[in-house]
Amino acid sequence: MRTRKLKAGVIGLGMGRNHAAGYAAHPKCELFAVCDADRGRAQEAAEKYGARHILRDWRKLLAMEELDLVSIAVPNYLHARMTIAALRAGKHVLCEKPMATRLADAEAMVRAARRAGKRLMINMSYRFDPLQQELHRRILRGDLGDLYYAKSHYTRRHGTPGRPGSWFMSKRKAGGGPSVDLGVHAYDLVWWHLGSPRPTWVLGGMFGELLPRRLGAVGSRDNVDDLACAMVRFATGQVIFFEASWEGHQPGHQGFEIYGAKAGASCRDWESNLKMTIHSDDRRGRPVDRPLKAPRRRTSAYRHFVDACLDPEMPMLASGEECIHVARVLDALQRSQKTGRAVRV
Ligand SMILES: NC(=O)c1ccc[n+]([C@@H]2O[C@H](COP(=O)([O-])OP(=O)(O)OC[C@H]3O[C@@H](n4cnc5c(N)ncnc54)[C@H](O)[C@@H]3O)[C@@H](O)[C@H]2O)c1
Repeated sequence: MRTRKLKAGVIGLGMGRNHAAGYAAHPKCELFAVCDADRGRAQEAAEKYGARHILRDWRKLLAMEELDLVSIAVPNYLHARMTIAALRAGKHVLCEKPMATRLADAEAMVRAARRAGKRLMINMSYRFDPLQQELHRRILRGDLGDLYYAKSHYTRRHGTPGRPGSWFMSKRKAGGGPSVDLGVHAYDLVWWHLGSPRPTWVLGGMFGELLPRRLGAVGSRDNVDDLACAMVRFATGQVIFFEASWEGHQPGHQGFEIYGAKAGASCRDWESNLKMTIHSDDRRGRPVDRPLKAPRRRTSAYRHFVDACLDPEMPMLASGEECIHVARVLDALQRSQKTGRAVRV
């Protein structure tokens, strides 16, 4: 029986603080090392979550033989480089979303995991909300019947992350604006609920109406989108429409509607106070709306990832192999915007 705890390292201590907390809370894992170019951030996380080692150089962290698994929670353009290096160093990897800034890099990450025989998970953290887990359980049980259409929205009125000049607003460093930052969650959640079907066509649109003007006013030449939308068709005949914005003259809206042959599901406000409702008809055809209650049992992406590293046979949610299909859709959205046409995935 295994007695030794797995040792975890985290690179990037913004969002990475959640990873550190998740590893520290797992009974079979310990937070061993944290690394950030900003030493103060790493130090703070180490003190709070009990890491033994604090580093500024990510290559030194990956060279630590004791480490079993690593979280990559740095700006998007560093995901592929660090993930591939970590896999080559024999570590399991939990990488933040979006996978990479270019599709070819995301594909290289999946190949590197296959070659290394190590786990690669992408932090599709929203899937682990207890209500999303409960809805998914009911979908698998057949409560909603066959699912055929979903709409998903992750829009903010004023919600651009970072300041002008930050990596979030650089196309090269982020790979895009809300299309990749929020769109990845909006699309992934409903795609997962719909059974992860294989996409065939994407028709998308991207806009930069408000943000480039604001950035230009402060002398920045960054030019990422501030709103994006896409319709995705699948070989199964299913369709998903999703939209994401950081800025827009509309109230923000975070949620989805899923249409099933027996019942539908709607989700509201996943950024603040998530509510989920199941919609169906009673025997007389009258509409019935039932709020879904969260189960007592809680999990998290970090807990799930550690469990998957401990048990090589355990099916893992949001693996690199699975999420590459999400990366292909985001790439197709950008190609559709460039060509003005629906594009094959
Ligand atoms: N899954 C989610 O729900 C979720 C939520 C927020 C952010 N994210 C993702 O997490 C990642 C980080 O986002 P953030 O909001 O924490 O950004 P951030 O800019 O706040 O933090 C990034 C950290 O990485 C550090 N860093 C940068 N380059 C480094 C290097 N070469 N070596 C070591 N450290 C380095 C920075 O000093 C900084 O502390 C992004 O990919 C983002 O998309 C995911």
